[in-house]
Amino acid sequence: MRIFLADTTATRKLGITLGQSLNAGNVILLEGDLGAGKTTLVQGMAEGLGITDPIVSPTFTLINEYTQGRLPLYHLDLYRLESNEVAALNLETYWEGVEVTLGIVAIEWAERLPYKPDSYLSVRLTYGDENTRQVEITSHNCAISEEITTMRI
Ligand SMILES: Nc1ncnc2c1ncn2[C@@H]1O[C@H](COP(=O)(O)OP(=O)(O)O)[C@@H](O)[C@H]1O
Ligand SMILES: [Mg+2]
Repeated sequence: MRIFLADTTATRKLGITLGQSLNAGNVILLEGDLGAGKTTLVQGMAEGLGITDPIVSPTFTLINEYTQGRLPLYHLDLYRLESNEVAALNLETYWEGVEVTLGIVAIEWAERLPYKPDSYLSVRLTYGDENTRQVEITSHNCAISEEITTMRI
């Protein structure tokens, strides 16, 4: 499914809808160039989950955890890592909910993942003219809510 995003607000709004409709254990794999809007989308998701803490880019911290909302949000950014370093992080503990409470896992630069979960939403952001973006959302064994498939931004 392809959605046109006219501006930052549209991207954030899509994030809010996702945040309101996702379930525990859902994994969102975000791809797109620097500045494409990955963090902006996750900020919307956090808002939709009811998180009021500021969502900051985890480029340097690798992972930020927010436990204040409807479900925990685990926000990761693999930008600075090589595939073999990512493998050593045992990220499956997040999407399997081993040792951590099962929540929403949002991963920026997911193309660096050497392995993927069994089910996930793939979210690819690309630049359009000026402030526009396009997003391509593909579900991989992951029930995507009707709200998202029917949403108009
Ligand atoms: N349609 C849009 N969607 C998302 N961000 C946009 C859009 N238009 C302009 N922007 C701006 O582009 C930047 C996107 O940054 P960010 O979300 O951090 O990207 P990424 O995490 O992909 O590197 C922000 O400054 C945002 O305001
Ligand atoms: Mg980012």
